[in-house]
Amino acid sequence: MCGIVGAIAEREVREILLEGLKRLEYRGYDSAGLAFISPTPNALATQINTIKTVGKVNKLVSAVSKSKAKASGRIGIAHTRWATHGKPSVANAHPHLSGADIALVHNGIIENYEALRAELRKAGYTFDTDTDTETIAHLIHANRAGGKVSLLSAVKKTVKRLEGAYGLCVIDNTEPDKLVVARSGSPLVIGVGIGENFVASDPLALGQVTDRFIYLEEGDIAQIQRESIAIWHKGKKVNRPTTTVKHQTADSDKGRYEHFMLKEIYEQPRVIQDTLDGRVSKSSVLEQAFGINAPALFDKIKSVQIVACGTSSHAGLVAKYWFESIAKLPCQVDIASDYRYRDIIAQPDTLFVTISQSGETADTLAALRYAKKLDYVATLAICNVATSSLVRESDISMLTMAGQEIGVASTKAFTTQLAILLVLAIVLARRTGLTTAQEAKLVKELHKLPGIVEKTLGLRKQIKTIAKQFSDKHHSLFLGRGIQYPVAKEGALKLKEISYIHAEAYPAGELKHGPLALVDSKMPVVAVAPNNDLLGKLKANLSEVSARGGKLFVFADESIGYQSEKGLKVINVPRCSEVLAPIVFTVPLQLLSYYVAITKGTDVDHPRNLAKSVTVE
Ligand code: M6R
Repeated sequence: MCGIVGAIAEREVREILLEGLKRLEYRGYDSAGLAFISPTPNALATQINTIKTVGKVNKLVSAVSKSKAKASGRIGIAHTRWATHGKPSVANAHPHLSGADIALVHNGIIENYEALRAELRKAGYTFDTDTDTETIAHLIHANRAGGKVSLLSAVKKTVKRLEGAYGLCVIDNTEPDKLVVARSGSPLVIGVGIGENFVASDPLALGQVTDRFIYLEEGDIAQIQRESIAIWHKGKKVNRPTTTVKHQTADSDKGRYEHFMLKEIYEQPRVIQDTLDGRVSKSSVLEQAFGINAPALFDKIKSVQIVACGTSSHAGLVAKYWFESIAKLPCQVDIASDYRYRDIIAQPDTLFVTISQSGETADTLAALRYAKKLDYVATLAICNVATSSLVRESDISMLTMAGQEIGVASTKAFTTQLAILLVLAIVLARRTGLTTAQEAKLVKELHKLPGIVEKTLGLRKQIKTIAKQFSDKHHSLFLGRGIQYPVAKEGALKLKEISYIHAEAYPAGELKHGPLALVDSKMPVVAVAPNNDLLGKLKANLSEVSARGGKLFVFADESIGYQSEKGLKVINVPRCSEVLAPIVFTVPLQLLSYYVAITKGTDVDHPRNLAKSVTVE
C-alpha cells in the first residue's frame, strides 16, 4: 500500500524523507519518489524538483545520491506507490505536479477522477499520467486561481470535490514555508518536532525524528509550518491532542533472522504472552481489559457477528467454533468485502466484531461503518494497531500485542488474534453458564500456550527437510476437520501467498465430494491431526488419499502415535489440549510455507502483487 512522508525543517530534509520511506517499505509498493522545494541553480529563487524511480526505495536512494543538488531542500514530500490506476512507472509514481509550482502525494483512490479529468481538460489542463492523483494536483492548481487563492484555501476547496479516499500532502513553490495535508479515508499523522514538523501515513515512518504525534481525524485539513500546526475540521479550527508514541525499533530490524516472516514466527511465544499479560489472571479472565464499558455491553450479547479479511477472517472462523462450544452462542463470520455490500439483517443482541492486524483494511473499515448504522449492541475491534482507524471508530477494542508485523504474510498477528478471541469466548461464556472451575481450567491452558508454541518451533529442522518435496509442485491440498478446517485454510493461504504454489483447503470430510479427483502422486496433501473426537474420521479421510497414491504430510499430536509409512510422512506436534490446538497447529504450517518459499527462492517478506495493508478497495 502507498506511504506518505513529508517534512519541513531548518535543516536539509532529504535523509528524513528517505529514512521515512524505508520504514514504510513493509507496506508493499512498486515505485517511490520525492519532491523538494530547492534553491534554483543560481540560488536566487526556489523551484520544485522531483526524483522518482520504479522498484525498491534503494533505487531511489541511488538516484538521489547521484543528484544531491536536485534532491535537496528544507521542505519536501515523499511517497511509495502501490499501483491502482496505471502501471508502476516513473510517470505514474508520486509526487505529481501541476504547473511548475505544485507537487502532491496521495494515498487512497479518487472515485470521480474521470469526471474531474474531463472538466479539467476542458479548462486546458493536460495529463501526463494514468493516475487519479494527477487530477487532484490540477484541481488544486485551478483553485489557486493564478495565486489569488492561498494553497490552504485551494486545498479546502479541492477536497470538497473529491469522492473516494485520500490522505494528501501538498507543497507549493509560491508558498515555500508550508505543507498542506488533508485526510479522508486514508490515515495521516503529524509528527511534532522542535522548530520542525513532519507528516506521514504511519507514525513508524517518523520514528527517527519524533515520538510526538497528532492523529488527524476523518475530514481534517492541516497547514504545517516549521513553528506551527493548524488544523481545520468542517471549516472550523480545531485542536487535536498530541500523543507520545514509544517506538519499538527492534520490530523493524530483522536481527539474526534472514527474513521478517521467520523472525515474526519465532516471536510468537513472547507476543502471545504479551497479549495475555494483564488480561488473564491466574485462574480467570479480566474482562475489563476490553474496556470500561465492555462488561455491561457483554451482558446483553446473545450472538456474535465477525467481519474480517484474509488471515484475520480465518481467526474469525476458528473463533466461531469457540463461541459455539465454549460460550454456547451463535456466531456468524463474514468476509468484509462481501458483508459491506449485502443487505444485512442484524440479529438482535449481537456483538459486531472486526478483526484486523493493521486496523486500516479498507473493506473491514467499510464493514464497520456499515454495521454502525445497523442495530448491533456494540462494535468491538480486535486489532494490532492502537492508533488505527478501526480501533478509533469502534465502541470497544482489544489490542493484540504482536508488535509491528512487517512480513506481508501474517503470522504472529493471527496467533495473537486467536488468543484474544479465546479470551473473548471465555468472557461471554461466563454469561451463558461457564462455571468458575471450567474457566480456571481454560485459563490454565491459556497459560501453557506460549510454552507449547515455543516447543512447536522446535520442528523447524524437520519441516525444512520436507519443504524440499514441495518446491517442484504446482498444487497442494490442505485438510482439517472441524475447528482445524480454518487452520488448514490459513496454512493454504500462507503457502500460496509466499511460494506461489496453488494451495486449496478442504474440510477433510468434503474430500470425497469432489477434490479427491485431484489426488495423484504429484499432489502433496497436508493434514492437521490434533488429538480430538474427530481423529478417527480424519484418519479415514486420509486413507482415501493414500489409496489414490496421494503424498501425505500429516502434522499429528504426538500423543496419537501416528506412524509414518510409504506415502505418509508424520510430523509429531507437541501434545496440547483441544482448545489450544488451532493455535499450536498453525505454527508448523507457517514454517512449512516459509521453508517452501525459501527453497523456491521467492521474496518471502514482499511476495509479488501483495501489500501488507490493503487500504484501498
Ligand atoms: O490488516 P488486516 O488483518 O485487516 O489484513 C487482512 C488481510 O489483508 C491480511 O490478513 C492478508 O490476508 C495477509 N497477507 C495474509 O497473510
